[in-house]
Amino acid sequence: MLTINIAHRGFSGQYPENTMLAFQKALEAKCDGIETDVQLTKDNIPVLIHDETLNRTSNGFGFIKDYNYSELIKLDFGNGEKLPTLEEFIAFSKGNNLFMNIELKNSIIPYSNLENITLELLYKYNYPKDKVIISSFNHYSMVKLKNIDSNIKTGLLYDSWIYKPGDYCKLCNADAMHPQFCSVLDKKFVDDIKQKGFEINTYTVNYPEYMSKLIDLGVDGIITNYPDVLRDLLSNNL
Ligand code: G3P
Ligand code: CA
Repeated sequence: MLTINIAHRGFSGQYPENTMLAFQKALEAKCDGIETDVQLTKDNIPVLIHDETLNRTSNGFGFIKDYNYSELIKLDFGNGEKLPTLEEFIAFSKGNNLFMNIELKNSIIPYSNLENITLELLYKYNYPKDKVIISSFNHYSMVKLKNIDSNIKTGLLYDSWIYKPGDYCKLCNADAMHPQFCSVLDKKFVDDIKQKGFEINTYTVNYPEYMSKLIDLGVDGIITNYPDVLRDLLSNNL
């Protein structure tokens, strides 16, 4: 089984995270897919930024939810890069035949309707169902999404010890577990999840020695800031 190479926030190890530049560079590094984070502006435009606030990654300040998109697009997110919308990302990924891992950032701010807004864009672009997975640390949101459209794949993000992760994945009607790799992933947990018929995509793996171990454990996807390093490893593994 092949492990897929998912660039975390684009090629964020070398370029400003969650920007079109980082997505383009991830593509050039021959990733299979890209992971990105979605938050909602005041006027309900889904935009790609990890934090709820602008402070760390732009020259702006304050919460995304307090600004209209027209104000946010004026900001610099590094190297003169602008804040991308989810729609721009979907169009880019579709044009380049990329797998997408869209993370809904609705654990801290429970953006109402983020699930429907995201689904509508996937429908608009007729995105192939096998080329996208939506994930969140908010598992209620993932159950809600599955109830709206059972054909869309969902992944449960977590970074602590879930009891019987395979059973939990089934309980939430999800398709995959997305564990933090170093704290909650070992052979027993991988086997439990895989034997129950679910996928595992793990984050955020940046060192080759860990990448190799996880490939050997049989994870389905590795989410990394360095898709170039993972690509080299996977090519040598063939
Ligand atoms: O989706 C994997 C990973 O990105 C989840 O954590 O905090 O980097 O969004 P975080
Ligand atoms: Ca993320």
